[in-house]
Amino acid sequence: MCSSADSLRSESFYERMFARFYDRFMNRIETTVLLRRRQRLLRPLCGRILEIGSGTGINFPLYSSEADVVAIEPSRSMMQKARERMTTLDLSRRAEPPPKIRTEILGIGDPELENLIPPNSVDAVVFTLVLCTVPDPEYAIRFAKSRLKKGGKLLLLEHVLAESSAGRILQKTLNPFWKRFAQGCHLDRDPISIVRSEGFRLLEADRFRNTLPFYQAIYESI
Ligand SMILES: C[S@@+](CC[C@H](N)C(=O)[O-])C[C@H]1O[C@@H](n2cnc3c(N)ncnc32)[C@H](O)[C@@H]1O
Repeated sequence: MCSSADSLRSESFYERMFARFYDRFMNRIETTVLLRRRQRLLRPLCGRILEIGSGTGINFPLYSSEADVVAIEPSRSMMQKARERMTTLDLSRRAEPPPKIRTEILGIGDPELENLIPPNSVDAVVFTLVLCTVPDPEYAIRFAKSRLKKGGKLLLLEHVLAESSAGRILQKTLNPFWKRFAQGCHLDRDPISIVRSEGFRLLEADRFRNTLPFYQAIYESI
């Protein structure tokens, strides 16, 4: 298991700039492709939800008022943006109350998380564009499974390995540069195989492509 228990260390200038410009960098792909996918995935959720690596909190406005979310994120700069976004939740949704969201500066692998989220306690775990970045994606999925109630849902919106060998070669070639540029994001991970190997039941899945091959899925803990 890898630990990312480094939330107390100071962040580099690049990390802070990355968080600052992340939403602007993602804006085009979010508005053209990802936001409506996020909405479809997250809007039906209710009950206790664990969101892992919540970044700048882009998912927060998409939860319904039935959602009771604990959002963890190890980057203080990312979390600062997420918390700023939370202050506008009331204003952005006049028709219904905002979801309940508690934020914690923690990452998968931090010991505090073990106590914060007891085993078999959550109705859903959300990973959006995170399994590419966490130091140990296998551990992240095992942790999610251990925290889900039986019948709880695992929700994924991730970029995945290309289906074509040319696409995979390109991902492998770009990966060393991309990883540095995008704060540890790997282009050559295979989250689909990782989740399958943990024995979840697949409820629905959709592979789609824009600039990268993406995958959206709902799994059930059995
Ligand atoms: C590409 S961003 C995605 C953010 C957000 N989930 C989204 O959909 O836009 C990946 C996030 O994973 C976070 N991360 C890195 N290591 C992590 C860990 N060990 N546990 C949880 N999140 C982590 C990063 O700080 C970053 O905010």
